[in-house]
Amino acid sequence: MRMILLGPPGAGKGTQAQRLMDTYGIVQLSTGDMLRAAVAAGTEVGLRAKSVMEAGALVSDDIVVGIISDRVDEADCKNGFILDGFPRTLAQAEALEAMLTEKALRLDAVVEMQVDDGLLVDRITGRYTCANCGAGYHDKNLQPKVAGICDNCGRTEFNRRADDNAETVVSRLKAYHEQTAPLLPFYRDKGILKTVDGMADIDEVTRQMKALLGAG
Ligand code: AP5
Ligand code: MG
Repeated sequence: MRMILLGPPGAGKGTQAQRLMDTYGIVQLSTGDMLRAAVAAGTEVGLRAKSVMEAGALVSDDIVVGIISDRVDEADCKNGFILDGFPRTLAQAEALEAMLTEKALRLDAVVEMQVDDGLLVDRITGRYTCANCGAGYHDKNLQPKVAGICDNCGRTEFNRRADDNAETVVSRLKAYHEQTAPLLPFYRDKGILKTVDGMADIDEVTRQMKALLGAG
């Protein structure tokens, strides 16, 4: 299965992608995670992306299209992938279409996660991840079973993202509404857009996704 998770910052794209990976045996391709890794490694792409991401704006189309085009050729993408945070502009969506056609691959579904803006600031400012394995948590909505210890790997160090502050969230939401929301009619016209209620709790959103996508 090849699918796109489409939704504003904090909608739950990363949270659901992690769950769908296990269900469908496919990989998560998050351009946000890839760009953060490039920033941490100090690569040329990372140096170009750092200040843009910290301002909550979008990194240039050519950078992210290049990253995804290389990544989908890797062996672990053979069974399919979940695009998380890509495409984010009409130019990226068109580049993806051309890329998949050239590789003789088809997109199966685009799932929109609908969440009101008011909820997103709280979700983003409360988010943190395990510094070792990357498992995601939230101060209120998704706490480790034992406080301060990662459920997944047992480690005790956690990170918060540099762009997860109330100020930057406003810019990220603006970028979403102005540059990414136009992808909804683009995919609706192609007949592959599905919608889930991203305001529901995490398990319920997963249930809605699986109902839309089939058992796997
Ligand atoms: P990216 O990393 O993609 O960030 P984003 O789109 O802003 O989305 P988030 O990762 O913040 O949210 P999410 O939807 O994954 O939510 P999560 O599951 O973590 O991009 C970062 C930056 O990189 C961009 O601003 C841009 O600069 C650049 N970039 C990336 N891709 C790009 C592209 N294609 N083109 C150009 N630039 C690009 O959930 C959030 C929190 O809420 C968690 O704590 C979670 O536990 C909790 N939660 C999740 N679901 C629920 C629920 N249903 N109920 C309650 N709590 C929930
Ligand atoms: Mg994410």
